[in-house]
Amino acid sequence: MDPWELVEEEIRSCRRCPLHAYRRNAVPGEGRRDAELVFIGEAPGRVEDETGRPFVGAAGKLLTSLIEGMGLRREDVYITNIVKCRPPNNRDPEPGEIEACIPYLKRQLNMIRPRVVVALGRHAARTLFEAAGLRWRSMARDHGRPVEAELWGVRVTLYPTYHPAAALYNPKLRESLEKDFEKLAKLLGSRRRTGTLLDYL
Ligand code: URA
Repeated sequence: MDPWELVEEEIRSCRRCPLHAYRRNAVPGEGRRDAELVFIGEAPGRVEDETGRPFVGAAGKLLTSLIEGMGLRREDVYITNIVKCRPPNNRDPEPGEIEACIPYLKRQLNMIRPRVVVALGRHAARTLFEAAGLRWRSMARDHGRPVEAELWGVRVTLYPTYHPAAALYNPKLRESLEKDFEKLAKLLGSRRRTGTLLDYL
């Protein structure tokens, strides 16, 4: 079986943590399987659970418009989450749930081998910083600052920013998020000029 089909099938039928009991659909992720740029959120919400697709609710609409604001399309990037099943009432994922789910992300990143990984929100950022052996401080301090990181054998630029859901009703955070995406576009553009980023912008 194709390794992508295999990992997606394993995610859809996964019972490694208690979240499987609550889900309607697991949400493996979607987008280009050779994307240079990957977005990683926290966990599916209600609409994602209903559709099996990542970031398709209100926060997803904002994420999509931020991606388009960089001159890209959603289909040009890969979008997934740290945890692939919706926690009940959208509570934060628990450490054991993250631990059970992270091997899927590890496999996905090793197949995609992106150059830039954007961590959306503090849960994704903390998990990815820790996986890379880096010290996570806080979103207020570290958002919009690219760091070089090795995630499960894949060398990437890790870029933390606010979660779009947090920015929906907070104009200050939204402004920060928009600025971070402007910086991200520049980062991608400068990487392209140095010949390390292939087909963006
Ligand atoms: N929030 C997330 O973190 N991920 C989604 O897929 C949707 C909302």
